[in-house]
Amino acid sequence: MRRLALTDEDVAGRKLVLSWFRDAGLEVTLDRIGNVRARRSGLDDSLAPVVIGSHVDSVATAGRFDGCLGVLGGLEVVRTLNDQEVRTLRPIELAIWTEEEGCRFGTDMLGSAVAAGRITEAQARSLTDAGGISVGAELDRHGLVGPVAVPVTPPAHYLECHIEQGPILEAGGYEIGVVTGVQAILWHRLTIRGRAAHAGTTPDALRHSATLAAALVTVKLDEMVKSGRYGALLANVGRFDTAPNLVNIVASEAVITIDLRNPEEDAIQRASADLLAYCREVEQRTGVTIASEITAHTPPVQFYDEVMDEVEATANRFGLSNRRIMSGAGHDAGEMAAICPTGMVFVPGKYDGISHNPREYSTPKACADGINVLFQCAVSFANRS
Ligand code: GLV
Ligand code: MN
Ligand code: MN
Repeated sequence: MRRLALTDEDVAGRKLVLSWFRDAGLEVTLDRIGNVRARRSGLDDSLAPVVIGSHVDSVATAGRFDGCLGVLGGLEVVRTLNDQEVRTLRPIELAIWTEEEGCRFGTDMLGSAVAAGRITEAQARSLTDAGGISVGAELDRHGLVGPVAVPVTPPAHYLECHIEQGPILEAGGYEIGVVTGVQAILWHRLTIRGRAAHAGTTPDALRHSATLAAALVTVKLDEMVKSGRYGALLANVGRFDTAPNLVNIVASEAVITIDLRNPEEDAIQRASADLLAYCREVEQRTGVTIASEITAHTPPVQFYDEVMDEVEATANRFGLSNRRIMSGAGHDAGEMAAICPTGMVFVPGKYDGISHNPREYSTPKACADGINVLFQCAVSFANRS
């Protein structure tokens, strides 16, 4: 599975899902950044809607559940309401957010961040992929710039069901995760410039190797994680591009990405500052220059007691074992929490919760449990005046 945001594959996937939305009687609109909103009327359409959402874009090595469970689960909520001829007081809207993954354009939760007002439409449109193609050009090419203004009008509540993407629920035998929030995320892109030189003739003292510098930074991050000095820090170097990328030439350039995660904002900030200080040391030691850019940063998000309590009570009513859990992954719900009461339902994944991997898997029972809880919470909130 590979549906990088705003590629032809992503747009083909969206079109298919939108045809299902329309078959379910939903009225589909787009906002200025290509986020989809699909509306089921309530008894009083002047009231703010309850929004259920997630994403259908994927990383390059995806499984089938990350994002799609929440979108298709929302569709199942609507289909069930239709089948049972249930009218809710408030409208219920399904959302599909643009570029949740951040894999293509470098900033995650992009569409929901624009919808919530953290990132402007102009900033988002100007982001480019590794080939220099911009978000704006892709939105225009696919005709995805819609009439709904951003930031959007806040919904009454926002709900999202998602696969956990980690090992905790499965290992503990839990059927539902009551998500308490999302840990902080901070992404850097480092552009390291050295000097191309002959690998057989250039003495060590005359080399300025961009790959050596990139490797030193990578190892330093691992030491920082294992030092325990930054709490529950996680760090990943996911992209490691070098030039000219040939066997007998000292590398003149390396571009690497760094993904830092931490439940605590001050710890992630300290890690980021210490890493950049270490980059200055690497410059001294190897003679390269290192330019850094923060491409994404979201502080920790705390979800709402009202929503957590509703998810927990619903799971208990269904006899589903559950625990509270902080999300290690980023989610669109983290953005929506800035503008309305928000919460998430997690379902366990198999195989240690492996995700961003084709083996990602959640059983039909686990998915149904999660969507049943989502359904009850959505209807409960949609019936509150
Ligand atoms: C989203 O998948 C993330 O990177 O957490
Ligand atoms: Mn996701
Ligand atoms: Mn993901």
